[in-house]
Amino acid sequence: MKILVVNGPNLNMLGVREREIYGTQSYAELCAFIEACSAQLGVACELFQSNYEGAIVERIQQALGREDAIVINPAAYTHTSIAILDALRAVALPAVEVHLSDPAARECFRQVSYAGMACEKTVSGKGFEGYREALAYLAERLKNA
Ligand code: DQA
Repeated sequence: MKILVVNGPNLNMLGVREREIYGTQSYAELCAFIEACSAQLGVACELFQSNYEGAIVERIQQALGREDAIVINPAAYTHTSIAILDALRAVALPAVEVHLSDPAARECFRQVSYAGMACEKTVSGKGFEGYREALAYLAERLKNA
């Protein structure tokens, strides 16, 4: 079982950007956390981060025949990108949306999630733990498929 974990723009700035919202841990620490969770759950993970919408679309397309499921934090593209929504729909792999913060409790421009419309589940406001929850859900989902 292989799960692609996609992180969108500015998540490479974790630990530096808005620490009161996103915490003090770095992107490298997030990657180590995701790898440890995957190992515990007995799944393989592929990590991908980009600040570019088109690169994210292309990586989602490449998941077809390569990975079995997708965890995605599209970051700001959550609220703007129909292209990412369409890519998720195109590959039609089971997907879970993750947000470190809780966008529902923030500015009005964060209230819509396009990517979320192609996801089976959304985990928000749980920090790094949200990725564990998403991976655990997909590991269970793939086992039962
Ligand atoms: C985010 C929430 C988005 O609204 C924001 O643009 C981000 C990060 C989160 O993980 O909480 O960059 O996706």
